[in-house]
Amino acid sequence: MQSYQLGIFNEEANIFNVTEYKINDNVSPSTIKRALNNALKGTSEKIEVVISFGKNILNELAPEVQPKNFKNFEQLNGVNGFTMPSNQSDLYFRVIGSDNSLVLDKTIQIQEALKAITTIVISENGFVYKDHRDLTGFVDGSANPKEEKKYLAAIVPEGEPAAGGSFVFHQKWVHDLMKFNELPVSIQEKIIGRTKPDSIELEGDAMPADSHVSRTDASHEGVAMKIWRRSFPFGSATEKGLFFIAYTCDPFRIDIQLERMLGNTEDGVYDQMMNYSKATTGAYSFAPSIKDLKTILTD
Ligand code: HEM
Repeated sequence: MQSYQLGIFNEEANIFNVTEYKINDNVSPSTIKRALNNALKGTSEKIEVVISFGKNILNELAPEVQPKNFKNFEQLNGVNGFTMPSNQSDLYFRVIGSDNSLVLDKTIQIQEALKAITTIVISENGFVYKDHRDLTGFVDGSANPKEEKKYLAAIVPEGEPAAGGSFVFHQKWVHDLMKFNELPVSIQEKIIGRTKPDSIELEGDAMPADSHVSRTDASHEGVAMKIWRRSFPFGSATEKGLFFIAYTCDPFRIDIQLERMLGNTEDGVYDQMMNYSKATTGAYSFAPSIKDLKTILTD
């Protein structure tokens, strides 16, 4: 298998930054490549960077590295006026590590390398909250695929265009935590579909059809739509939530989950969690294999 970017599967890091950039008009591919090489050089061994590209810029820089089914994320609308807006941009950097200073230094180095040719769309810092919990207090990641299955879920398989790469979905969610925290724990558990203290999946009649787990644990034509989630919480007194990040071998898997959350299914059932958290951004990008990344960065 073409080797994927290692940071995709890092499970040790607990400090994160994601920064998304739009490339300014009329910047030549050569100038972009030079800036990207500068952005990536000198990365400390103690941190990892996952770089991914929006569809338009990938096509401009390396038309030969085009995965199947790659698209820009466009706003989705659901029942009850729910929306998932798009902030589709061009360049995506996820810097991860265990040392705040190193993660910030790298984030700033990338910013400086790109500043003449880009505009920042969003930059968000995050961290591991308690024992890998979302700020709602529920463990996030319990049903992530394990061992070999995570590679199958996340990486474009050998034989397909852009094999070894991974589609990336970023979506910033802002929680109404006070509203959620006012609910009794038994109701919170029905919204998520797992128990709060120990993250045990609700079973049988105890699992509501409109829980988050019911809406996202989806299959299509007998294939489980597994994805590899690497989301991180962010927060301050003013704004708090989850920066949702998922890697997938096919963006269709994410599309299905989002439509099911929004209630865009025959039964119109939507994800109860959407009453307590709001999607404020959304974008697809592609994290090429290490070999394809070299092609993209070579002038
Ligand atoms: C406010 C935003 C979100 C929060 C707080 C959240 C939180 C959670 C929690 C607590 C779980 C249960 C534990 C686990 O298996 O990880 C979970 C499961 C899951 N979530 Fe989310 N999530 C959010 C958004 C999303 C989005 C946007 C997607 C899809 C694009 C998604 C996909 C999934 C999947 C696939 C599962 C596992 C389902 C299963 O197979 O059991 N989540 N999420």
